[in-house]
Amino acid sequence: MTAMSAMSAPGSLDEQSLKELIAEELGAVRDRSLGLTTRVLDEGELTAQVSPLMSPLVWDLAHVGNYEELWLLRAAAGIEPMRPEIDNLYDAFEHPRAERPTLPLLPPKEARDYISTVRSKVLDSLGSVRFDQGNALTSGGFVYGMVVQHEHQHDETMLATHQLRRGAPALLDPPVATLGTNAPRHAGEVLIEAGRFEMGTSDDPWAYDNERPAHFVDLPAYYIDVEPVTNGEYLAFMEAGGYDEPRYWTPKGWQWRNEGGKRSPAFWTRDGGTWVRRRFGRTEPVPLDEPVQHVCWYEADAYARWAGKRLPTEAEWEKAARWDPYAGRSRRYPWGDVYEEGRANLGQRMLKPAEAGAYESGASAYGVRRLIGDVWEWTSSDFHGYPGFRSFPYKEYSEVFFGPEYKVLRGGSWATHPLAVRGTFRNWDYPIRRQIFAGFRCARTAAPEEGGA
Ligand code: AVJ
Ligand code: FE
Repeated sequence: MTAMSAMSAPGSLDEQSLKELIAEELGAVRDRSLGLTTRVLDEGELTAQVSPLMSPLVWDLAHVGNYEELWLLRAAAGIEPMRPEIDNLYDAFEHPRAERPTLPLLPPKEARDYISTVRSKVLDSLGSVRFDQGNALTSGGFVYGMVVQHEHQHDETMLATHQLRRGAPALLDPPVATLGTNAPRHAGEVLIEAGRFEMGTSDDPWAYDNERPAHFVDLPAYYIDVEPVTNGEYLAFMEAGGYDEPRYWTPKGWQWRNEGGKRSPAFWTRDGGTWVRRRFGRTEPVPLDEPVQHVCWYEADAYARWAGKRLPTEAEWEKAARWDPYAGRSRRYPWGDVYEEGRANLGQRMLKPAEAGAYESGASAYGVRRLIGDVWEWTSSDFHGYPGFRSFPYKEYSEVFFGPEYKVLRGGSWATHPLAVRGTFRNWDYPIRRQIFAGFRCARTAAPEEGGA
């Protein structure tokens, strides 16, 4: 069993094997973080702010170490604070991103020393922390899984910072092609019959509070796109005047369109007669058969209306992704319960989504493709707790964001690590956000006679 497939079911391992895997995954995520920071950028670039939307990269780096100190040293192992005076600097709620460059942050070398000291102490204490059932924080290695996922989430955020950054390219496209089986692009839709399915989870040991508890949701019949909307399809919307027709936009979306003056996805520009896009410091023609990314919720919503459709609700997304109507149960991933490389474009294997038709082997029981990986998918849903939600282990991960300001995104992107996404995973962001690696697919309500009882 590889680390990754074991990690996809941490509940099945004994405590000793689980600890070995945790140590391995802590090492792997740190390697990734350093590959996005100290290994590729100099001190000046690490402390600079490329956009008020993002933190200086050196903030993310020390923040993941500080979070690790709080949860794995202080909370799990009962170790005294190392540097309590810096906690405030790295508390995301104390200082909004725009303000972070003005703080007396640890310089890159000190930040790196701090996070590696934290890490050594974590590895030293891991053996003596008990993972017994009675301790909700450590049972199943939960808090370690939370910290590994947190660092991976910040790595994805750091990739968004790299995408916004100007100057010579710092990241290289890995020499890896698409894995798994490919098929021709499927531009169609799938009918999901009416009926109930199980949403969320109660027993996935590393699931966040917002994914819990499992509960049944009854949905009317609907159609959902087999694949995400491509750049080519999005371009058709642009060329049809989609940005100039108020009837495709919600009032807030139209206001966003008027105030921002945006008329194409972020990072797209015109070069002579063609559309080009900037991607990690390089400019290249927009690939028409790749899922569109860097569109905000308002743009996704407008496109869907233009296409005579709508965005799926997050329940519709999850039923299409997880429900196996033959077995009458929900899967952890579209293709089954175990993570397998080659079924999804995840983990920064490429620095972009795969071309249309790729990863056909990742299809769900209903034949819906590319639900995990490639691009986060905007849903029509606001972010709320499920019935019976209980905040754990802290309100600031999920609960403080519940409400109408945030829209839910599902499925992860090419930049999301496999440990940081699953069929139940819920991401959220403001409907104006475009620097994240998000696209969308469409859905529409089926007529009752099309969808059975
Ligand atoms: C779940 C991606 C919305 O980045 O704001 C990171 C994850 N929480 N540090 C974010 C998170 C605390 C969160 N998202
Ligand atoms: Fe964080």
